[in-house]
Amino acid sequence: MRKIAVINQKGGVGKTTTVVNLAAALARMGQRVLALDIDPQANLSVHLNIDVATAERTIYEVLSGTFSLTDVIQTLPDEGFDMVSSNIDLAGAEIELVSQMGRETILRDAVDALCKSSPDYDFLIIDCPPSLGLLTINSLTAVRELFIPLQVQFFALQGVTKLLEIANLVRSRLNPDLEITGIIPQMFDQRTKLSHEVLEEIHTFFKNTVTNTVVRSNIRLAEAPSHGKSIFRHAPSSFGAADYQALAEEVLNMVPQERVYQMPEIPELPPEPAAEQTQKSEEPPAEGPPSEEPKDKQLEVEETFMKHEV
Ligand SMILES: Nc1ncnc2c1ncn2[C@@H]1O[C@H](COP(=O)(O)OP(=O)(O)OP(=O)(O)O)[C@@H](O)[C@H]1O
Ligand SMILES: [Mg+2]
Repeated sequence: MRKIAVINQKGGVGKTTTVVNLAAALARMGQRVLALDIDPQANLSVHLNIDVATAERTIYEVLSGTFSLTDVIQTLPDEGFDMVSSNIDLAGAEIELVSQMGRETILRDAVDALCKSSPDYDFLIIDCPPSLGLLTINSLTAVRELFIPLQVQFFALQGVTKLLEIANLVRSRLNPDLEITGIIPQMFDQRTKLSHEVLEEIHTFFKNTVTNTVVRSNIRLAEAPSHGKSIFRHAPSSFGAADYQALAEEVLNMVPQERVYQMPEIPELPPEPAAEQTQKSEEPPAEGPPSEEPKDKQLEVEETFMKHEV
């Protein structure tokens, strides 16, 4: 199973739109797909017509240990793929999880169990929230591939360095298999010079990790959520459907190992907490007595996340 998280801590860049329509396109090509909503906003669930107010079996129940992933999977016969929904309770999960042992790996453990009980899935695609909190760490820890949608507008790359830093940190401390394999240009407006310039800038930065498919700005894509449908059911002959079809074909044919964006190595932390040469992002805050204990790796990743919370 290919495990992919669609992530960008910036809001409204097209994460949910990409998860829904990529999942639908892959399913139409005969792939078995599980889409997972780990965003407390539950936009993916609403987009797929799930009544989130009454949903009782959601990703929250998995993270809190009540159910396994298999127990909470819903089938979407009209779309042809399966999903795990979210609900607003998930906002509280982030706080509840803080006191749990192994809090960063709860989702990974659940996904590993799913791979054993339902080995037939070809794709797991996770819709991440627009933040870098514990839910996002769980997603980064559970997958092998990251897809990052970037809105092809001014500021597209703003905040990306922080995202890369976090991904790199999770890779070096919690999930050595993690790689960025798809930078997806989103909401491209081919009429403007700025869009072309920004697209060029994205290519310069991410090189061959950028998908050939550029998702154009298309009103049909914006309408689809209010109809509770993927673009293939809402407007199958639109640009939006054509772009997501092309993206799915590209994703299906890509060899993830060949398109990895090389994240810079993070040096191993020195054992002594007092070391002056520690990277600035890993330095503990000045207040309070310095800890005698070397920090455990999970705690350290989490603290870094908290500092970068947006
Ligand atoms: N290619 C597109 N053309 C036109 N509208 C789009 C396109 N992609 C997404 N949209 C619209 O832009 C808005 C934001 O998209 P979406 O919800 O997918 O972003 P997101 O990154 O998941 O947001 P959040 O960070 O809040 O979860 C939505 O209203 C969506 O319908
Ligand atoms: Mg979203």
